[in-house]
Amino acid sequence: MSEPIEFSPPGLGAIEILAPAGKLSLTPATQMAVNTIASHRDLLRGKGIDWGSGSGVLAIVAARIGAVESVLGLELAVEDVELAQENARRNGVADKVQFLHADSFTPLEPDDLSPLTDLLDTTDFLIANPPASRGDDGLGWRRSVLRGARHFVRPGAPLLIQISYQYNVDRIARLAEDVQGYSYEGVIGSSEWIAFDQSRSDLSAQLVEYAEEETAGGTVYTFAPAGGGAGHVSAIDALNHYRMTGESPISKWQMHLFRRG
Ligand SMILES: C[S@@+](CC[C@H](N)C(=O)[O-])C[C@H]1O[C@@H](n2cnc3c(N)ncnc32)[C@H](O)[C@@H]1O
Repeated sequence: MSEPIEFSPPGLGAIEILAPAGKLSLTPATQMAVNTIASHRDLLRGKGIDWGSGSGVLAIVAARIGAVESVLGLELAVEDVELAQENARRNGVADKVQFLHADSFTPLEPDDLSPLTDLLDTTDFLIANPPASRGDDGLGWRRSVLRGARHFVRPGAPLLIQISYQYNVDRIARLAEDVQGYSYEGVIGSSEWIAFDQSRSDLSAQLVEYAEEETAGGTVYTFAPAGGGAGHVSAIDALNHYRMTGESPISKWQMHLFRRG
């Protein structure tokens, strides 16, 4: 197990998180999501779901908000479920958060049905920092989260979902049409410009798939130019530039607000 990582979400006190050893987690996207939750705490009250809770950090930050009654974290990796519960104890919110071993909204342990069924149609908010999906435009997991969440979140409930800048705001806004029952309200949190680090194997594989998606006629991606400056660079151009210069394209990690209709 790694050393604890500290977060200081403004107004919510220090938070110390043990990250799973040997696993890419607590990334700049996590940091951005933590800050967004803290700066938009007015959106979060009542009962929430943290989809893909990992180390539990986002559920724990949300649970520090006074108006939040409870947060249920859903996580596929069983070792993360145990670690997240330990992190909740370390940060004094074990009475407000629970983590379930689940494949999306389906619990994987037979005794775990009731925490989720209790949230049907009554969930007041959802937070998600999902993985990029593979073999499609990268947003398949986001569509899946929105589709599944329709059974849980009440009308008017906010959904805070991490989607990076390069996906192109047109494709992101269209998620609310791909999965009906939502409106898209825009970006509510953003990191600084940051390299879409091609030394990370997951991000380099994603850039190749984005370029393939463009070649197949999909909506273009919108990286910023590698050296900074105005304008957008498609995934095809970003990939060619990286292969020639070794410079990673630039993007931002962002939190978007969707609302259940
Ligand atoms: C990008 S990480 C985010 C972790 C944490 N929420 C954070 O922000 O640091 C995505 C998480 O989603 C989990 N995940 C992937 N597929 C899932 C699924 N089908 N159901 C539940 N969790 C899943 C991964 O194991 C991982 O912990």
